[in-house]
Amino acid sequence: MAKPKVQYQCDECGATLPKWAGQCNECHAWNTLIEVVVEAKSNVKSFRNRDHIAVPAEVSFLDTVDAEQSSRLATGMAELDRAVGGGLATGSVTLIGGDPGIGKSTLLIQMLSDLGEKGVKTLYVSGEESAQQISLRGRRLDLALDKIRLLTETNLERILSIANSEHPEVMVIDSIQTVYTEMLQSAPGSVAQVRESAAQLVRYAKQTNTTVLLAGHVTKDGALAGPRILEHMVDTVLYFEGDSGSRYRVIRSVKNRYGAVNEIGVFAMTDKGLKEVSNPSAIFLSRHEEPVSGSVVMVTKEGTRPLLVEVQALVDTSHLGNPRRVSVGLEQNRLSMLLAVLHRHAGINTSDQDVFINVVGGIRITETAADLAILLAAISSLKNSPMPQDLIVFGEVGLAGEIRPVQNGLERLNEAVKHGFKKAIIPKANQPKQKIEGMEVIAVSRLSDAISQLQ
Ligand code: TYD
Ligand code: MG
Repeated sequence: MAKPKVQYQCDECGATLPKWAGQCNECHAWNTLIEVVVEAKSNVKSFRNRDHIAVPAEVSFLDTVDAEQSSRLATGMAELDRAVGGGLATGSVTLIGGDPGIGKSTLLIQMLSDLGEKGVKTLYVSGEESAQQISLRGRRLDLALDKIRLLTETNLERILSIANSEHPEVMVIDSIQTVYTEMLQSAPGSVAQVRESAAQLVRYAKQTNTTVLLAGHVTKDGALAGPRILEHMVDTVLYFEGDSGSRYRVIRSVKNRYGAVNEIGVFAMTDKGLKEVSNPSAIFLSRHEEPVSGSVVMVTKEGTRPLLVEVQALVDTSHLGNPRRVSVGLEQNRLSMLLAVLHRHAGINTSDQDVFINVVGGIRITETAADLAILLAAISSLKNSPMPQDLIVFGEVGLAGEIRPVQNGLERLNEAVKHGFKKAIIPKANQPKQKIEGMEVIAVSRLSDAISQLQ
């Protein structure tokens, strides 16, 4: 194969340069030039040569498109199927991101074992662990080892040529950061390598209708390591969430071309690998024996399923000129905004206080329905006065101090009743038309109304 030509492209403005430089000529941004392949024609051709993919492009009506091509493949793990929107779509590329040690490899190999038992032809490509390590783990997890085909390889060209001869229906690459292509000189794991390798794998998946799953590392601040563009290239992006201390692991879809986003699947990490938790609604509560201050239970709706989650706050006198606002599992900026609303519309000042907010169990809450719970938890901690243990709270707080409705209010209330909660502070617009048996609903339209309920 002739050596492909490489250029350097600016990540900011797209300008191309023949040589690497510290600064882009065009937009003068620093450290933005990355290596790109100019021509990868020979490689593309090798796929096209295969008969069944040589389809000439033509214009067609959508109703005549054969939808069969993107059928679903149930993985045998209902929680994973749920997260991806009802099974893996064939020919799709899924990226699974998460902290080291959270369970990506465990999940993927368990999935391959289940698929293998159903007669699906699979291939597990590992660049991180040796065959012995993987086999040892498989034995410990009682997996169908005779159904898992393993390839320990990091060279993309070799991976693709083996895949081309083996024709797996499902291929796992663990991880995308270890794979490198010969076309580039950059080190494996660099932005250029990750981008180019992923692009070729996506092309392979689409042209051969192979379902590909890529495991990906995440950086300290929680983003996938490597170019942002990786998330654009793939069809589905799943994130593994969870505390290293907690045994629960949540898989959340943050992008899905084949289903809804924010759908979650819940697993527990046990000594026999990941086990599905099919009814997770109450696992994120810490269940204190005595009422404690700074703890509020909210009902969040992640995807199609309501979950009871405990929000904890600690508000304490700050000795810093710039008091700390720390939130774990929630967006930081939103916390600052909520504290400003609390000051302006309820007269409660926290400018001399450090405020820490935590969501129990390591789950992330992405919806604004948590606003009211966060503020009530902060007030409870500030005043050191516990909330009733049978109280649940949800509602969005607006900048004008109003409490805005959230979606699926009734469903959230019903879930709370199921778990024995008897009192709810919710937005006025979410007030149910009929009385809910066993639940006292306090509907509020202003933040000050909600706070006055606490006295
Ligand atoms: P792993 O799946 O290798 O994580 P990743 O690929 O995301 O880096 O590791 C999973 C972690 O879970 C590891 O630290 C050990 C633990 N574990 C268990 O507790 N039980 C098990 O059965 C297995 C296989 C792993
Ligand atoms: Mg791993």
